[in-house]
Amino acid sequence: MAARSSRVAGFYRLPLAERRRRLREAAGLPCDGDAFAAVDPGALPLDVADGMIENVVGIYALPFAVAMNFRVDGDDAFVPMAVEEPSIVAAASHAARIARPAGFEALVSEPMMIGQIQLTHVADVDAGARALRAAAPDLVAEARRLVPRLAERGGGPRDAEVRVLAADGPDGGVIVVHLHVDCCDAMGANLVNTLCEALADRVARLAGGRPGLRILSNLTDRRTVTVRCSIDDDQLAEGGAAGPAVRAAIAAASRFAELDPYRAVTHNKGIMNGVDAVLVATGQDWRAVEAGAHAFACRSGAYRPLAVWRERARGLAGELVMPLAVGTVGGALHVHPGARLALELAGVDRADRLAALAGAAGLATNLAALRALATEGIQRGHMALHARGLARAAGATGDLVERVAAELAATGDVKADRAREVFARLSGPIVLKEPP
Ligand code: MEV
Repeated sequence: MAARSSRVAGFYRLPLAERRRRLREAAGLPCDGDAFAAVDPGALPLDVADGMIENVVGIYALPFAVAMNFRVDGDDAFVPMAVEEPSIVAAASHAARIARPAGFEALVSEPMMIGQIQLTHVADVDAGARALRAAAPDLVAEARRLVPRLAERGGGPRDAEVRVLAADGPDGGVIVVHLHVDCCDAMGANLVNTLCEALADRVARLAGGRPGLRILSNLTDRRTVTVRCSIDDDQLAEGGAAGPAVRAAIAAASRFAELDPYRAVTHNKGIMNGVDAVLVATGQDWRAVEAGAHAFACRSGAYRPLAVWRERARGLAGELVMPLAVGTVGGALHVHPGARLALELAGVDRADRLAALAGAAGLATNLAALRALATEGIQRGHMALHARGLARAAGATGDLVERVAAELAATGDVKADRAREVFARLSGPIVLKEPP
């Protein structure tokens, strides 16, 4: 099969059925049957949903899309996204297009999760910590025996770290043992929690304390992704603004986020726009990633941007570093047909590639937001997309969507009643001229 190209010119302008056809061909999905049945309305059967969570009364749907133009580590990818906010998919695709000449480069750490075993009422925390450190190799060996298949695949528990949290206080002496577990292609929450529960009593006895909580940490600072991209000035020019001016404005926007937590949070929200959309589409625990990302952003003591942008000779360099625990086995993937299709479309069968794509999506949506904010502001683009939505809601289809939207955007009066008026006028009956 030829290598997939994620560049399909004018993809967003094609009718939906044609988009599916082009994507099926480009992603090499099977021709027999409907390749997109997994993301058709009603694709998640009620009885399957009923088995996923409690008190189910229905299915909540979101638009499912692909961001185009991504090249990550030299390979093209369609990046699946499920999200309700207009402009995220367009922004990601646009930014991936300007980053495309050099593409995104990702460095994914080992998939190392942290399990925490809390011990309370330890009579002597120094002696307890000494005993635990001496027993650490044994504890790790015992933990590895509990997951022989994972250990055979090169993963499993690797290390046990002992941290004293309090010598005394309401809970007596408090120690926490961190079990570091290589989860391979799983996100690993169940695996890590099971291991922590299995070891807790022995750990408590060794330290002379009581077992407390036994649960993974979502601050997965040993499971991170670093994504970089470099963009030439000529790709950055926007409207009337020349490339070097846009480059300088984006670097200044990055410094603003580095100086001010109020801005850093919004900057990071722009990153999570891309990351979360990929995580939702691929059935990941996006709450875990969100929680870890923001704690990681604070690791210096101040809330900082997860991605920064620096000026280079005739270009811009961006770098995102964040914790990103994702899995391509287990979790919702067992049961959710849309999530499985999302991975197939993206050509992903390993957790590190999924982390690379989600990170690249985050750096892309960050770049798109900063480029728009640093030049004309984001409202014009938002309004153009909003105008298309109103045109569709007014009944426009095909070419009429663009024509109605263009007229709304040109007059700046982007409202539902105006969309209905423009649509009625443009779609009015065609009067055929009488032949002479
Ligand atoms: C909106 O969803 C995201 C932005 O606010 C991000 C940013 O300000 O960088 C545009």
